[in-house]
Amino acid sequence: MKRPFRIAVTGAAGSISNSLLFRLAAGEVFGTDQPIILQLIERSEAMEALRGLAMELEDCAFPLLHAVRLHDNPEDGFRNVHFAFLIGAKPRGPGMERADLLAANAEIFSRQGRALNDHANPDVKVLVVGNPANTNALIASRNAPDLSPSQFTAMSRLDHNRAKGMIANRTGFNTADIRKVAVWGNHSASQFPDVRNAEAMGEPIWPGLDHDWVDNTFIPRVQKRGAEIIDARGQSSAASAAQGAIDHMRDWYMGTPEGDFVSMCIVSDGSYGIAKGIVFSFPVRCRYGRYQIVQGLPIDDAAQKRLDATEKELLEEKDAVKHLLPAETEDAHNN
Ligand code: NAI
Repeated sequence: MKRPFRIAVTGAAGSISNSLLFRLAAGEVFGTDQPIILQLIERSEAMEALRGLAMELEDCAFPLLHAVRLHDNPEDGFRNVHFAFLIGAKPRGPGMERADLLAANAEIFSRQGRALNDHANPDVKVLVVGNPANTNALIASRNAPDLSPSQFTAMSRLDHNRAKGMIANRTGFNTADIRKVAVWGNHSASQFPDVRNAEAMGEPIWPGLDHDWVDNTFIPRVQKRGAEIIDARGQSSAASAAQGAIDHMRDWYMGTPEGDFVSMCIVSDGSYGIAKGIVFSFPVRCRYGRYQIVQGLPIDDAAQKRLDATEKELLEEKDAVKHLLPAETEDAHNN
């Protein structure tokens, strides 16, 4: 029997976690022979709801789930964890400006970064889902000076999956046949979903696509899909966000399929001219628990404009929280 992985999930009583936790316990991320211990973290106000969720997990009698621990603080919750899903975040309240939202979350994620630094396993892999995810990941990473920045990632996999789904619908292929979709930049409406290198059953799809449709329908639809879902169901994406989190962590840990790549928000090493140090979504390949940016993809003028716009937004977000960013350490981009 393998030794259990310790997995922390913050915001564990929330909607995304409700979809995620049962699938984690069923072995969908780390394999069906890998036992796990769940270390669930919530605000003290939500501990009662979390206790209810823990009872349900127990009632599933998952063979891989060795223990469930409940915590109302990140210092205890992150103790010895190998993987951390940072899902809990402060939502935007009425009348709240973007800067207020950034500042409120900066406090949460700087404390969580310090707690990971001091208490987690030194090889911990961190996925930030809570919004604004890229900048939250940046803050957590910068508050964890003993960990490599490459251990901190944020989620653009939901955007990646959305792009793949829309392209499959458009071309009539199955999603399993579509490869090499990429999402660049921020997990926000400025992101750049890119299908210029995409393939269906190994053949390039770009020559057969209507480029007006790509520019005027596909790209804005992926960018605004989150808002479209909120309008339709009155709540933000939950099950599909959990799916994105599962896919992100599974591929990081298990590796990406041969001949494909995925999108992950990671600390920029300057590839494609993107400012070093911001957390930016790149196409990556994963192997042996590490990721590498896919190099050499062609960037034409139109694509460059889109990269510039999303990079600018991330630099502005970084500027808005600069007082919470401790001095930058040398970029250790060797995850
Ligand atoms: P939710 O409101 O259902 O749950 C959030 C939970 O986090 C709540 O139970 C709350 O008590 C908890 N929480 C808040 N602050 C916390 C803290 N400091 N420590 C521990 N727990 C804390 O929200 P939902 O739907 O689960 O979404 C969570 C986050 O994920 C939101 O920020 C949302 O915007 C973001 N999101 C990100 C996506 C992405 O693609 N990156 C996609 C969809 C949502």
